[in-house]
Amino acid sequence: MTEASAKRLYIKTYGCQMNVYDSERMADLLRPLGYVMAEGPQGADLVVLNTCHIREKAAEKVYSELGRLKDLKAEKLAAGDGVMTIAVAGCVAQAEGAEIMRRAPTVDLVVGPQAYHQLPELIARTSRARGERLAAAFAAEDKFDALPAARTPTGYSAFLTVQEGCDKFCTFCVVPYTRGAEFSRPAEAIEAEARSLAEQGVREVTLLGQNVNAYAGGLAQLARRLAAIPGLDRIRYTTSHPRDMDADLIAAHADLPELMPYLHLPVQSGSDRILRAMNRDHSAASYLDTVARVRASRPDVALSGDFIVGFPGETDSDFEDTLALVQEARYAACFSFKYSRRPGTPAAALPGQVDEAVKEERLARLNALLDAQQEAFNQAMVGRTAPVLFERAGRHGGQILGRSPYLQAVHAQGPASLIGQIAMVRIDGAAKMSLSGVLVETPTLEPA
Ligand code: 5AD
Ligand code: SF4
Repeated sequence: MTEASAKRLYIKTYGCQMNVYDSERMADLLRPLGYVMAEGPQGADLVVLNTCHIREKAAEKVYSELGRLKDLKAEKLAAGDGVMTIAVAGCVAQAEGAEIMRRAPTVDLVVGPQAYHQLPELIARTSRARGERLAAAFAAEDKFDALPAARTPTGYSAFLTVQEGCDKFCTFCVVPYTRGAEFSRPAEAIEAEARSLAEQGVREVTLLGQNVNAYAGGLAQLARRLAAIPGLDRIRYTTSHPRDMDADLIAAHADLPELMPYLHLPVQSGSDRILRAMNRDHSAASYLDTVARVRASRPDVALSGDFIVGFPGETDSDFEDTLALVQEARYAACFSFKYSRRPGTPAAALPGQVDEAVKEERLARLNALLDAQQEAFNQAMVGRTAPVLFERAGRHGGQILGRSPYLQAVHAQGPASLIGQIAMVRIDGAAKMSLSGVLVETPTLEPA
């Protein structure tokens, strides 16, 4: 094999949207080295598992995947097809790199979320000295400075990390340990990346951060700056912390048309006692007040949230408080989880760990309520006309798929030429997960 011949790269992404972003950036970084993306791990020269540590289940998936990869690696070698290098990236790599190396000898490289810009160098070192296994955690330099400025988008909507890390230290959460301290990228670098995306046809960016609304310099200011980029018609952001929902950002929901009417604002619990034990630094009432202020600014905003049931010490009455908060807040979408005890976090050591069966039952009751709210939100769209950013062809002939401003999936019969365009759709059907509709006019929002 010559230096220039294509090497096959397979990246498997677990967990949050930031991991999706990081995986795309790893591909950007490895492309100049001759790597082309493969559909699956079979026969790949490099396999990267970009992992998630947020809950126990997510972390355990990595080890079962490594078991399968071990066999594929052996098969490739036996076929005389060369070595499969296996790298574990992401938050499991950061949190338990040494344990991965010990439990899974098939792994060649372990690289944390703040060090993946070192992948090319690490790969070169493992292949030069076969058998050398390497790990990189936090790096002294800023990874963003080392990443290529140009992006290779995979569609018309793209993720863009603007803030990373967390200083909030909710007592259940591993993020402050795996992603490190809060850090905001300079606005110039973000703008350059957004321009590169827009020039390649991207119409929507979702600004990412573990505490995106804690963006230094103000998220609203950044959104206004990005909205001025020609072709960039939609701006979203996630995940926000209730404490950082400032007046400027709330006002931007009223006066910045590019800012989509959608807010993901995790609350975790509706009980003040539990919120205190979680170190959330807000109450149920202050959360509801924030939501009310956002709705006063943008009445049609779609609200989404995250919930944890069965946090240590959670009683039936605490759980009832959560249901009451949900009733009052009215969600369009939600993510709810059973509390998962994470080693090293303060809550893992708390007394009153809740029985698994109780967690199950609470989760089912919460989900029933949240599902009903989501369905009601979708149903209320029927008869309305909404702009849809079409992103791809549907499964059925002549069908195209996109998203409403409220992040609902929408399908309609329409020409493939509308993919990458925003077009008006009259909604005529609603299910739990998606809407259907009819195109009502040809798009006028051509990219400038
Ligand atoms: N157990 C269950 N859910 C958790 N989350 C974070 N840590 C845990 C945990 N230990 C949830 C929170 C957070 C979302 C990203 O994951 O709801 O907002
Ligand atoms: Fe985790 Fe809380 Fe930070 Fe969110 S704000 S990343 S839940 S510690």
